[in-house]
Amino acid sequence: DKRPILLQGAMDIEMQDMVKALTDTTEYTIGQWYYVAGQLDGYPVVVSRTEQGLANAGASTALAMEYFNPVAVINQGTSGGHDPELHTFDIVLGETTVPSAAWMTEASAKGAGVDYKAMTMNGVYAYDKNQKTFVKEVKYPGDETLLNCAQAVADTYNKGKVVKGVISSSDEWNNQIDRMLFLHELNGSSCEEMESNSVAQVCKTYDVPYLGIRILSNTGIYGEDFNPETGSACQEYVLNVAKNYIQTV
Ligand code: 5AD
Repeated sequence: DKRPILLQGAMDIEMQDMVKALTDTTEYTIGQWYYVAGQLDGYPVVVSRTEQGLANAGASTALAMEYFNPVAVINQGTSGGHDPELHTFDIVLGETTVPSAAWMTEASAKGAGVDYKAMTMNGVYAYDKNQKTFVKEVKYPGDETLLNCAQAVADTYNKGKVVKGVISSSDEWNNQIDRMLFLHELNGSSCEEMESNSVAQVCKTYDVPYLGIRILSNTGIYGEDFNPETGSACQEYVLNVAKNYIQTV
């Protein structure tokens, strides 16, 4: 039996088109998380709705590992811009993912106020098979084969740019432009969202290839508000990536 590819989206607008692309589907609810298993080009694929936020995405990924034993995982969906080079509908292929709220602040006295820049990145823990223990990391790399498959279909996309970059994950939604630019400066982040890094963490723990692919659905830097149509555009791209990856497994 072939191991399926797991394709994730947090909300319906980020996963329903991928479900529609599948044939021979079976629905599963594990805990409260929803999955649809089926076939894409004759290869098994599981589409999952992780729900929003790091804990939901991590839990949903761990359950998928145990129930579906995926060969690879793509976490995809909407995001907000951090990089001034990027606009709504541009797509970021996650060369790395960063847990952007996992920081340690410099100490300061009571009443001294808070300098939001006075901190260093701290990272989060994933199991490392070589060291046989959980190890703290700030940057989680995307799998090279998945990244190459994703780059190879870039010319199929005509709604915006496709760039390699850094996906910034936390349960935050930032609307302060200076903070977006600071996070871009600190971590090189291209965009922010609420799921990818917990998926990267769980995938590393299970030693399963992972890639984050995020479309900008909004960017405060240019006053561009959330555009739900980006959810479909990203899924269309990711389906092409998955079809390309199927050729390699
Ligand atoms: N900041 C944080 N999360 C965002 N999302 C889209 N845009 C942003 C943004 N600017 C995604 C998250 C989450 C939901 C709120 O949409 O990943 O699932």
